[in-house]
Amino acid sequence: MTKRFLITGSYGQIGQALIPAMIERIGKENVVATGRKKRIPLFKELDVIYHRLDIRDHYGLRSLLVEYDIDILIHNASVLSATGEKNPQLAHSINFEGFYNALEASRELNLEQLFAPSSIAAFGPTTPLVNTPNTTIMEPTSIYGISKVYTELMGNYYNKKYDLDFRSLRYPGVLGVEEPGGGTTDYAIDIFYEAIKTKKYTCFLGPDVRLPMMLMSDCLKSTFDLIEAPNEKLKHRSFNVTAMSFTPEELVSEIKKYIPEFEIAYEPDFRDGIARTWPQSLDDSVAREEWDWKPEYAFEDMVKFMLEGISNRLGIPYK
Ligand SMILES: NC(=O)c1ccc[n+]([C@@H]2O[C@H](COP(=O)([O-])OP(=O)(O)OC[C@H]3O[C@@H](n4cnc5c(N)ncnc54)[C@H](O)[C@@H]3O)[C@@H](O)[C@H]2O)c1
Repeated sequence: MTKRFLITGSYGQIGQALIPAMIERIGKENVVATGRKKRIPLFKELDVIYHRLDIRDHYGLRSLLVEYDIDILIHNASVLSATGEKNPQLAHSINFEGFYNALEASRELNLEQLFAPSSIAAFGPTTPLVNTPNTTIMEPTSIYGISKVYTELMGNYYNKKYDLDFRSLRYPGVLGVEEPGGGTTDYAIDIFYEAIKTKKYTCFLGPDVRLPMMLMSDCLKSTFDLIEAPNEKLKHRSFNVTAMSFTPEELVSEIKKYIPEFEIAYEPDFRDGIARTWPQSLDDSVAREEWDWKPEYAFEDMVKFMLEGISNRLGIPYK
């Protein structure tokens, strides 16, 4: 039987791709999108059920979960890394209180599953940063990273104590045509927009900062694959997932194969400091073993996909 889903933070970068993909998979009658703002034009077009909901609103969340008889909650509302460093108090309130609210509502209403993304930001400078294992030291130094460790540990705790089916993915930087929401990997999206529009880009990370990434379609694939995995196969609750790793310098040289006149300047800011405490590459073998994770897009294909997608969106040819 088809499950019914409620998604928080649904008009964010991932939500804007997730909601149409979910409607296609399970039909719009099984998808309830929520967010803090008024319904965005995309959701009007999709004619998806939409409600305004601040994730810190205990009563509002519970009412919607009951009203729509929700089976699975996808909790995407979050303040991301760069925005979190500018306002740690806001990040604390949304990422800690907001997640706790999602967790408690899932427990009280006996939901079938709670899926809440973690991030590579959950790791920190004391983590082995090359081929980072699934289980390792996690001592992040950003408020965002600390909130993701909290998400993972509390999710685990509720799984053990209350048998809540909590599942989480440590997304790397997610790349797509959708506008990013204030993270440290946003450069790898902005760069395509600027390469097509102005043929120039000033990068806020240094040329050598290597980070793990994946294309949006692989992010969605990993999300659906984990949500649908049989519970008895899962020995972990949080999983590394990745598709590629690259530096700004490597990305520039691949873009230049299509736009030779593209120029880059580097002006590293505080985000360079955050990125250097994050893994350069991830070992996602646990996800591969437990629920057959496998990405579809590698680096060169991703660059081609991004150039084509953003060029179409802007209506500006890239070659
Ligand atoms: N995009 C990435 O590269 C990436 C990487 C790792 C992890 N993640 C995680 O994936 C999830 C979704 O990320 P995203 O990229 O779509 O982020 P985003 O910033 O684009 O979207 C997050 C959404 O949460 C909403 N939100 C903020 N405060 C809220 C509140 N109080 N109540 C309700 N909604 C609120 C925002 O308005 C926004 O629409 C987050 O948990 C994020 O940490 C994303």
